[in-house]
Amino acid sequence: MERIKTGINGIDQFTGGLPRGKTVLITGDAGSGKTIFGLQFAITSCQQNLKTVYITTEEDSKDLFTQGETFNWDIKSFTDSGLLQFIELAGVRARVTEAEISIDVGAMKGNFSKFLRDLPEDTETVILDNIGSFTAKLTPYEFRDRFDLLVYELKERNITALIILDSATSKEFNEIALFSVYGAISLMKRENPYTGRRERVMDVVKMRSTKTPTQFMTYEINNNGIDIISGVESKE
Ligand SMILES: Nc1ncnc2c1ncn2[C@@H]1O[C@H](COP(=O)(O)OP(=O)(O)OP(=O)(O)O)[C@@H](O)[C@H]1O
Ligand SMILES: [Mg+2]
Repeated sequence: MERIKTGINGIDQFTGGLPRGKTVLITGDAGSGKTIFGLQFAITSCQQNLKTVYITTEEDSKDLFTQGETFNWDIKSFTDSGLLQFIELAGVRARVTEAEISIDVGAMKGNFSKFLRDLPEDTETVILDNIGSFTAKLTPYEFRDRFDLLVYELKERNITALIILDSATSKEFNEIALFSVYGAISLMKRENPYTGRRERVMDVVKMRSTKTPTQFMTYEINNNGIDIISGVESKE
């Protein structure tokens, strides 16, 4: 299977990269590094000469450029060359709420496939940060239907996708999403039982057809972005 490098050393070494044409879910708490993961993957995808689209629902692209600058990532050269495109849906959530009140409660709810309508025909990689913005008021059935359809359509278009889902979104939705996707990586902060120090750990929850680490991988966010520093402990 063809692989796309993520730019995150430990993951690329262990798995060879994300499976091409498949969807991988990134979950995690606020501040766990989901957006940095997404940006790092976007840049690395461009370095592999893949047409990449970053859909952002919470931050505008200026904030993402600023974040990239802290790591010396030259995002602008990729947007200038047309290899990377940002689609900003920031503020859409507010508009959806307004529209629901005044127009039609059902019509706009969580229609994830509409994300895909704006994508250029030749898109090869998509980062969707964060789909949790569009889940309010959905029932679990609706969420499952729409999420499955999104994953299906991405696959039909042979797009390698990273879908970010924050953990403020219900646990039930997180579990539903987990089943639909080809791979899933969870980012966490926790206290190291031995040192008592808080640390960031990453769990490759699943990755079909891929050798995956069974250990938690400890990572840092440093000048390089996300940097795996060890896969020290067993999961349980
Ligand atoms: N240049 C940097 N060096 C070190 N750490 C950084 C740097 N830039 C950001 N961080 C850390 O990364 C965290 C933010 O990561 P990121 O925005 O990717 O999180 P997130 O999971 O997307 O959060 P949210 O759910 O709020 O969107 C910051 O809170 C900060 O701790
Ligand atoms: Mg984020």
